[in-house]
Amino acid sequence: MLANKTIVLGITGSIAAYKAADIASKLTRAGASVEVVMTDSATRFVAPLTLRSITGRPVVTDMFELASEFSIEHIALAEVADVVVIAPATANIIAKLSTGIADDMLACTVLATKAPIILAPAMNVNMFENPITQENLSKLKARGFTIVDPACGRLASGKIGLGRLAEVDEIIATINQVLGRSGDIAGKRIVVTAGGTQEPIDPVRHIGNRSSGKMGYAVAEAARDRGAVVLLITAPTSLPQPAGIEVVRVRTAAGMKEAVAEAVAQADVLIMAAAVADYQPQSVAEAKIKKDSPSLTLELIRTPDILAEVKGNFIRVGFAAESEDIVANAKQKLEKKQLDIIVANDITDADSGFGADTNKVILISRDGKVETLPLLSKREVADKILDRVVGLLAKKA
Ligand code: C5P
Repeated sequence: MLANKTIVLGITGSIAAYKAADIASKLTRAGASVEVVMTDSATRFVAPLTLRSITGRPVVTDMFELASEFSIEHIALAEVADVVVIAPATANIIAKLSTGIADDMLACTVLATKAPIILAPAMNVNMFENPITQENLSKLKARGFTIVDPACGRLASGKIGLGRLAEVDEIIATINQVLGRSGDIAGKRIVVTAGGTQEPIDPVRHIGNRSSGKMGYAVAEAARDRGAVVLLITAPTSLPQPAGIEVVRVRTAAGMKEAVAEAVAQADVLIMAAAVADYQPQSVAEAKIKKDSPSLTLELIRTPDILAEVKGNFIRVGFAAESEDIVANAKQKLEKKQLDIIVANDITDADSGFGADTNKVILISRDGKVETLPLLSKREVADKILDRVVGLLAKKA
């Protein structure tokens, strides 16, 4: 979403201003053109030259200084922006924007732009919690501004409280999400499952598998960035919670089935990237099983086959982790589970499958179309899957 987009990055006078350099750097590396506008007090915290060096673009600090092409026409940036992001946003800029004051270049740009606006507040906890600031934020939210809520943590004052600038990755994810509102899956409801289920044996042990959850999370993030309303149903993983995505946490296959069955009632698409256990212990021991006997036999029973059992009028995408006869086995699964698309991968390949950041998959559609993709990042694979989903959604419409 970021490539070739013009992002106006407003920086105001908070100690967190230095983090804006990281935001500018990540956006620039993702291919965006980043136009930085700094308030006077922001320049006390971080040098404009830093931002200029990172973005390769002139930095606007003064409405009346003619150093930048944008200073001449004070609303030029407002017109070229695909999105305006203010990070960090102080109580002062929030108050100014909520009343329409336009006494500096940043406030002018926000007032004049038709682009979506994102604010990432950062300030002292008392300033943030002050009803005046809260009212101003509510007012801006009601006007369509997107607020990336601050986090709780240690503030510059030494106090612990709400007011720390949100994580840079969360701010970037929000920018992607806002830009994605005009994406090719805008407004569609997509349910994605991820991670490996855990089937308890006793209170401390379970049967698990090696799924990292990375493929499912990549699908969820790609769908979010293309405008979808995403619900991620995840078995335990060590991955951070993705921004802008509703997450339901489950543990077992049975728990996942329940969550999926409830979610698909409103869904346009179900993408089952989770590695669901095929068997679960017949009964779960109430107390920790002792190692008194030389051997232990566990009676296992089949888990529900979620994809095969959950019915409804939505597009169904499944995965097939195979170690032999990949295409033939995947085609069989596509038939058996009545899928629209199956994503098959060879789990014996070191670059593919469990835990890797890359994946080499074969996409097979119900109409028999087989496409072998090269080794790609999981995010790129996710976008390829979604390209096919978009085609199916269009056909359905
Ligand atoms: O049959 P197999 O486990 O190989 O099928 C894999 C596909 O089926 C995956 O999309 C997986 O998420 C889904 N699955 C399921 N319920 C199960 C097992 C797998 O929905 N119990």
